[in-house]
Amino acid sequence: MSLFRTKSVEQSIADTDEPEFRLKKSLSAVDLTVFGVGVVIGAGIFTLTGRAANEVAGPAVVISFIIAAIACGLAAMCYAEFASTVPVSGSAYTFSYASLGELFAWIIGWDLILEMFLGASVVAQGWSAYLGAFLGQIGIVLPENLSSGGIVDIPAILLVLVLGGLMTVGIKESLRVNLVLVAVKLFIVLFVIIAGILFINPANYSPFVPESVPTESASGLTQPLLQFLSGLEPATFGVGGILAGAALVFFAYIGFDVVATTAEETKRPQRDLPIGIIASLVICTILYCAVAVVVTGMVPYSELNPQAALANAFAFHGQTWMATVIAAGAVAGLTTVVLTLLIGATRIIFAMSRDRLLPGGLAKVHPRFRTPWVISIIVTVIVAIVAGFTPIGILEEMVNIGTLSAFVLVSIGVVVLRRKRPDLKRGFRVPLNPVLPILSALICTYLMLNLSVETWLRFLIWLALGFAIYFAYSRGHARLGTGAPLDPTTPRVVAPPKE
Ligand code: ALA
Repeated sequence: MSLFRTKSVEQSIADTDEPEFRLKKSLSAVDLTVFGVGVVIGAGIFTLTGRAANEVAGPAVVISFIIAAIACGLAAMCYAEFASTVPVSGSAYTFSYASLGELFAWIIGWDLILEMFLGASVVAQGWSAYLGAFLGQIGIVLPENLSSGGIVDIPAILLVLVLGGLMTVGIKESLRVNLVLVAVKLFIVLFVIIAGILFINPANYSPFVPESVPTESASGLTQPLLQFLSGLEPATFGVGGILAGAALVFFAYIGFDVVATTAEETKRPQRDLPIGIIASLVICTILYCAVAVVVTGMVPYSELNPQAALANAFAFHGQTWMATVIAAGAVAGLTTVVLTLLIGATRIIFAMSRDRLLPGGLAKVHPRFRTPWVISIIVTVIVAIVAGFTPIGILEEMVNIGTLSAFVLVSIGVVVLRRKRPDLKRGFRVPLNPVLPILSALICTYLMLNLSVETWLRFLIWLALGFAIYFAYSRGHARLGTGAPLDPTTPRVVAPPKE
């Protein structure tokens, strides 16, 4: 069936050598780790730690972080294996084209577009909110209608436009800016941990797992799908709260998978990609657990601020200057997340249009900058509009569901490709195959079931739209089916579909 036609690994790699589509190979393992930490640490740790502890998990939010880290660790190994086998731009999308077939590849690409477009927009708005908080603390008040939460979020728009311009000019240049901002961000996170220890009151850790309580606020469409399907009374805290917390704080880990989108720009992808993916995840997990323990020790969970817990925990102890420093650090920190998600989004669309699942002309590489400039501009404009004019900031669960679904398919893809192509050279192999990849798929599915009913409904609408575009356009234009040449300006050669 043509829906399940796969693109051979050799063909995927050969495509990257076409001059028209060749990207500059300049990144090292350290660059990738910085890139990974740059995109992972962001709105999640600065805001969701407080929200998850305050609303669903209590001090046990650290367990939520550990559960989410286990899910991500297993998925990271699957990503690392794929990235070291198929070092081609496009991340999970490319991997599934080689293993599960075109329809799955399309759906994953579609899910990743959701992850990165929405992620960039959500975090740009978070950035604007922190900017407002920081400026407010130093006495500058932005016009209400033209800033975070107003009619037009001008700071969010400006941020996206500046970062979009940077990414169009060159990835190495973007990464240099990234490096400085990542250093600031790491400093702030370490500052929270070290300074925060002084303010810990052990009494705040009890009860560590608050007793489960029935809740009215999480009912109907806002309750987790699992709860809805099982017919149990909506409840928060307790063990269920820890799991719901894990599904929520999962957002904080999103991004290590974006490292895989830069595969074609990496000098030694088979060695450096696994290092970059796994190292960034390990660093972030350690920092997150430490922050969660410190912050829930500083303030009773019921009094944690769900919007800006880190800064507020210090304000709670009367340390307003520390709160100001943290707000400033968050502004720097969130900048790199938006930049990296923008780069990730362009690389996914680049890979999809090179395969002609999206119009081929989009994938042109700029002759001097060697970046996919047409896509870069389109992505920048769309994200700027969404971040500037819509109330997207509340949709971080949508980013989670898009990412988790891609993780599930990548994990299954590892098992499939091992069977289909045992001969391929793999720079990194997931241990205990197929047990760990299957476990990865199961845990990610379970976390998805812990997301709310309304998130599922929105996700199903997104998928339906994806299927409609695939059958209306992509299936008929795919290079794999039509045999079209890579260069979009050359006429197509029609060949029988390859199964
Ligand atoms: N992990 C990223 C963040 O927390 C998306 O902002």
